[in-house]
Amino acid sequence: MSNEFFAPGERRAAKVNDLFARIARRYDFLNDLQSFGLHRLWKRRVAELAQVKSGDRALDLCCGTGDLSFALARRGAETTGLDFSPQMLAVAAQRQAANLKLKTENLKFLQGDAQQLPFPENSFDIVTVGYGLRNLTSWERGVDEMFRVARPGARLIVLDFGKPPNALWRAAYFTHLRLSVPLIGLLFCGNASAYAYILESLRHYPAQLAVAEKMRALKLENVRVINLLGGVMAINYGEKPAAT
Ligand SMILES: C[S@@+](CC[C@H](N)C(=O)[O-])C[C@H]1O[C@@H](n2cnc3c(N)ncnc32)[C@H](O)[C@@H]1O
Repeated sequence: MSNEFFAPGERRAAKVNDLFARIARRYDFLNDLQSFGLHRLWKRRVAELAQVKSGDRALDLCCGTGDLSFALARRGAETTGLDFSPQMLAVAAQRQAANLKLKTENLKFLQGDAQQLPFPENSFDIVTVGYGLRNLTSWERGVDEMFRVARPGARLIVLDFGKPPNALWRAAYFTHLRLSVPLIGLLFCGNASAYAYILESLRHYPAQLAVAEKMRALKLENVRVINLLGGVMAINYGEKPAAT
C-alpha cells in the first residue's frame, strides 16, 4: 500500500512537511476526535514522567501545535518547542497568544529539524517527542540527537503509536487505522490520505520495542516501555546516565 504523503529516504521530509502544512488548522480537533480525547491523558502522563524540577530546561521535539511544550512549561520547565513546520508552529503561537493559561514566559517555539538540532550537547534536563519519531526520515537519528542534547541525568521520553503485542488486538487496531481513521480525516478535514498516512508510517516504524532497544544501546538507565490501551500507544522512557 502506498500513500501520497510517504516516500522513503531523502524525499520523506518534504512529504511530511506538506502533510502537516495541510492539516495544521484542523490538527487539534482531529486529535480529540480520533482518540476520543485520550491523547490528552497520554500527554499528561509524559509530562508527569518528565518529573520537572525547578530550573529544569526542557526540549519538546516535533512539538506541532504545542501540547507537550505547554504541559512542560506549565510545570515550570524552561521549555523550547521545536518543529520544522511553520504552519504547525503558527497554530502553537496562536494558542499561546490566545489562552491566558498557556501564556507562559518560560516557553518559546523554534523552527528546526529534529534530526539536526541547533543545540550543543548536554543542554537539556528533559527531552520529549510526541508522535514525532515515526515521522522522521531516520528515527534512530532522532533518538541519537535526543541523547546528544540531553544532560547527564536527563529524562528522555517518546510517545507514539505502538504495535500491540497481541496479534488479534493488533489486527483490530490496524483495521481501525486503515478504515475509520481515514474516514474521519475525509469527513472532518477533507483529506483521507493525510490520515491513512498514520498506518503507512507505522508500517515503516518499528515502534516501542525497537525504541527501547535503541535506548539500551545508548546505555540509558531505567529504560521502560509503558503500553497504553494494550500497546496501541506507547511511551518509551529512559534516563541519560549521570556520568557518560
Ligand atoms: C503528529 S505531529 C505531533 C505534534 C505534537 N507533538 C503532538 O503530540 O500533538 C508530528 C510533528 O512532527 C513534525 N516533524 C516531522 N518531521 C520533523 C523533523 N524532521 N523535524 C522537526 N519536526 C518534524 C511535524 O511538522 C509535526 O508537527
